[in-house]
Amino acid sequence: MDINQIKNKFKTLFGDNYSVYASPGRINLIGEHTDYNGGFVFPGAIDKSVVACIHLNGTNTVRAYSIDKENLREFRIDQEDLEGEQHWSKYIFGVCREIQKRGYTIGGFDTVFAGDVPIGAGMSSSAALESTYAFALNDLFHLGIDKFELARIGQMTEHNYVGVKCGIMDQFASLFGKKGHLMRLNCATMEFEYFPFDPKGYKLVLLDTIVKHELASSAYNKRRESCENACAHIAKRHPEVKYLSDASMAMLEEVKNEIPEEDYMRAKYVIGEKQRVLDVCDALGKGDYATVGERMYGTHYGMSKEYEVSCDELDFLNDLAKQCGVTGSRVMGGGFGGCTINLVKEGLYDKFIATAKEQFSKKFGYEPKVYDVVISDGARRID
Ligand code: GLA
Repeated sequence: MDINQIKNKFKTLFGDNYSVYASPGRINLIGEHTDYNGGFVFPGAIDKSVVACIHLNGTNTVRAYSIDKENLREFRIDQEDLEGEQHWSKYIFGVCREIQKRGYTIGGFDTVFAGDVPIGAGMSSSAALESTYAFALNDLFHLGIDKFELARIGQMTEHNYVGVKCGIMDQFASLFGKKGHLMRLNCATMEFEYFPFDPKGYKLVLLDTIVKHELASSAYNKRRESCENACAHIAKRHPEVKYLSDASMAMLEEVKNEIPEEDYMRAKYVIGEKQRVLDVCDALGKGDYATVGERMYGTHYGMSKEYEVSCDELDFLNDLAKQCGVTGSRVMGGGFGGCTINLVKEGLYDKFIATAKEQFSKKFGYEPKVYDVVISDGARRID
């Protein structure tokens, strides 16, 4: 991404005084749809970010310009809502509101931003945007909010201003990311650990189907409701179960006939996924990539057949990876389109990518996009 383009646009619109902030998108090795179920996730920040120039303007108006959308939007800092459906400015507006709801005082600012996190690809471009502004405003107004709370500010922006009842993984990864490291986060306690990630002899690569599901946010919220329903039924018999991830398969079996078949399948996936994350952490410690890969395929199966958040294009790429002998492959992120994440032996990489491009375009008429994963640092001030 060309930071000079952002700086030049800022100068043209607002003048020479500004600070620069950035916050990245993320990958997730394993642990999908577990965050809002109090389970484990295993993400890392990537080398694709949102970058913003910001200057406090001493008024109570925010003037924000999106380079990618070529669009300027203004709102007052004390405004309670923003008109317009899913406008990009809702993310910045929501962050301002959520900071103020927590009792902090902020004022107006001028800003220009751009991003190279592909939108709708499952790499959390929206969390990158939220985290950029949560981090920047906290710094510029000297609010002293810790990074966990900044992550919640981003998450609640999604809940209250975008309409996605997401978990905490994406904002957490964007804020806490560390070069060369994945993070295993326990979403029930928010305890986390950095794991150095340097799989010798392997590459992590994303294949983007470029499919975007229009109803993804309502389907996502529906999955969450199913999990909460299954959990509530289990908790009636086992009060120690606070989140679905606390439950065992045996507990789920006890309530099988009390809940809709669909909720049962969703819960089965989530409980299985918890063990897969732990297995992967264990296997990584031993350099056992065969097990890491097997669990990734297990997650894909569960997301496709039990959680039902895959699509033909993703399943096709997953099958193809298996046929090519790729060590591990699965749909990444919320699903309903976006990318597969693939753990590929270096020697197989070129052949796999060439085959995937060829076979995918034969079937769907266009090539998937390819992104090599580079695990990078989280939110930061740049200048
Ligand atoms: C989206 C959400 C996350 C998480 C993933 C699925 O990225 O924003 O909170 O639930 O889907 O793991």
